[in-house]
Amino acid sequence: MNILVTGGAGYIGSNTCVALLEAGHTVIVADNLCNSKNDAIEKIMQITNKEVIFYQIDVNDVVAVDTIFSNHEIGGVIHFAGLKAVGESVEKPLEYYYNNILSTMVLTKTCQKYGVNRFVFSSSATVYGDNKVPFVETMDLLPSTNPYGETKAISERILTDIAKANPAFSVSILRYFNPIGAHESGLIGEASNGIPNNLMPYVTQVAKGIREKLRVFGNDYPTIDGTGVRDYIHVLDLAEGHVAALDNLTEGAHIYNLGTGQGTSVLELVKAFEEANGIEVPYEIVDRRPGDIASCYADASKAKQELGWTAKRNIISMCRDAWRFEKNFKE
Ligand code: NAD
Ligand code: WQD
Repeated sequence: MNILVTGGAGYIGSNTCVALLEAGHTVIVADNLCNSKNDAIEKIMQITNKEVIFYQIDVNDVVAVDTIFSNHEIGGVIHFAGLKAVGESVEKPLEYYYNNILSTMVLTKTCQKYGVNRFVFSSSATVYGDNKVPFVETMDLLPSTNPYGETKAISERILTDIAKANPAFSVSILRYFNPIGAHESGLIGEASNGIPNNLMPYVTQVAKGIREKLRVFGNDYPTIDGTGVRDYIHVLDLAEGHVAALDNLTEGAHIYNLGTGQGTSVLELVKAFEEANGIEVPYEIVDRRPGDIASCYADASKAKQELGWTAKRNIISMCRDAWRFEKNFKE
């Protein structure tokens, strides 16, 4: 099937393109490269030895998106393209609302025009806010403390309403937990330009000597060792989750957590990284980061039951693969 992958040059999108090509799909990527580089497309082709059709376009551009649908018989869309930095979304709310919500509308409208009824959407565990863990798909969503989270909740709502109004529309809304790791080739992963906001890219930069030490944001949370607990998931497991979602699309809107169901604290992750790679990661405990919650992990049973998908890779392989990519990575 011809799959349009928006944001396919990005971190999760590029790894998913590999999984889609390996599953026998044809991949058409639409990405404006605002947070990625052209060479991700070459690396996908290098890994798979298959062609990728690439359009460098903004997915908010109605005419450019229409051109792709008229040039190719699109069987389904996986919509990754979006801005994702929580802190930046507080400073630039309009950019986030405009980019992340309009893109969902442009794509679904074009899908309607061309009769494309298969859609997979990148949502985030951030929509659960500070609910009680483990997070289950049926929980009421709590208002997010940042515009980024709101863009995901609003896009979910738009897609759900479209599915209600058009019974032929099949949409899988995937709520990712904390994706880390990289393709095992070391070729595609999360490019860590500048000072990373997220834990794993920061850890790998400390390991590489780019930063002196990790700052651990708080050790007084009600968790196993006082540091924040998250459900880290290998990006390749996440990529396989998208293939499973696409293969199992049924009419209506269906929401799935893509997580491992296991929580890992910051200090446990540091220890796993040191064990996996034989490198010490110096750290210091500093104040809590505003807006952080104590614990976030999935109830991952629905995806297992309905998609036949579970995460297979453990925290050690996530740490090993993240480090292999960082070692290879050059700005
Ligand atoms: P990423 O920034 O690496 O990839 C996003 C890609 O989308 C980039 O290549 C960027 O150039 C492209 N893009 C952005 N706006 C665009 C536009 N208007 N038109 C065309 N291309 C555009 O991010 P990622 O980590 O791969 O995340 C992919 C999706 O998953 C995003 O929607 C993100 O919000 C969501 N998500 C990510 C995480 C995470 O921790 N990485 C967690 C939950 C959800
Ligand atoms: C993980 C843990 C930090 C950095 C964010 C977004 C979320 C989703 C994934 C997109 C926390 C601690 C971190 C550091 C630290 N993205 N930490 N020192 O905050 O769970 O989720 O990315 O949808 O929406 O909010 O991920 O990797 O930033 O933090 O101690 O330098 O590591 O406090 O406990 P987070 P993270």
